Amino acid sequence: MPSELSPLDAEGIHAALQDALADIEGARSPEELKSIKNRHLGEDAPLTQANKGMRNVPADQRAAAGKRVGQAKKQVSQAFSARLEALNELAQAAALASESVDVTQPTDRRLPGARHPLDTLMEQVSDFFISMGWDIAEGPEIEHEWFNFDALNFDIDHPARQMQDTFYVAADSVGGNAGDRSNLVMRTHTSPVQARVLLQQQPPVYVACPGKVFRSDELDSTHTPVFHQIEGLAVDKNLSLAHLKGTLDHFARHMFGPEAKTRLRPSFFPFTEPSAEMDLWFPQKKGGPGWIEWGGCGMVNPNVLIACGIDPQEFSGFAFGMGIERTLMLQNGIADMHDIVEGDIRFSSHFGTTGRGA
Ligand code: PHE
Repeated sequence: MPSELSPLDAEGIHAALQDALADIEGARSPEELKSIKNRHLGEDAPLTQANKGMRNVPADQRAAAGKRVGQAKKQVSQAFSARLEALNELAQAAALASESVDVTQPTDRRLPGARHPLDTLMEQVSDFFISMGWDIAEGPEIEHEWFNFDALNFDIDHPARQMQDTFYVAADSVGGNAGDRSNLVMRTHTSPVQARVLLQQQPPVYVACPGKVFRSDELDSTHTPVFHQIEGLAVDKNLSLAHLKGTLDHFARHMFGPEAKTRLRPSFFPFTEPSAEMDLWFPQKKGGPGWIEWGGCGMVNPNVLIACGIDPQEFSGFAFGMGIERTLMLQNGIADMHDIVEGDIRFSSHFGTTGRGA
């Protein structure tokens, strides 16, 4: 129990006040401040005791003593409140600083993958033909030479059959019995699917056949040994070149906008007669609009219909095929094939990740 402080002891009052102010200033946290509150403002605090002693002070000195003690007490409680407020603010600022997030800090989060634009385009093209009521058909990527060449009226010595154009597959490297394994090739185009469909289905036939094809080309800015095509085949009564042209123009407008159109230049394919190279008039072409080669087409050669057991007197047909990579490059102004095949996410994500199954 501290000895009682007299309200008349001006020096003592001053010392008690300084002591209290020093303690309050020295408190480093709201908790520490509260723990010293009792010592300076509680029942046993010197200034509280001095206040209680007022009743013993002679009347003529009461006013001066009362003022001294009252002011000292008031100063202490004001200092206490001010310090508490300051410490609370400091504590809050410290909490905010420790909980803040540094948005510039590098993270090891992995980027989500992006769908390859070729897949998206293949689907869009297939959807276009489905919207016209056509079916989608697929065939194997390792194909019998007969489907890839013979059924399509290729001569036995046609240059496309040569090793420098076509990958032949060693029979031992594929399963199946000996009869099935002879003369396998990695298909050089999607046209063998024409023969597969015609052997299975009587006309009317309207099919689109998307898929991968293989040729022994070096990878450069416009070629790749593996690429994609979309094949179209229609066999029905009384089909003519006009139906072919109308279908191609409709397809071109769908892919390249309302101003696009196609042009046919005489050409040769063993499985079509007459045959044509198909050019696309392409509004967005670099250096102004112009014609650019898009694919091959023609009227189905009667020899193909006969090979597949269809009477060419009764039915006629048209067929076409174009490269998907080329279509993607034309549509998007892609100058270099490497960008399409290298699998860099920065290329794919540029096309967005939307689309079915993405
Ligand atoms: N299969 C041919 C090619 O790959 C394209 C084509 C398809 C031509 C259908 C005519 C008809 O070059």
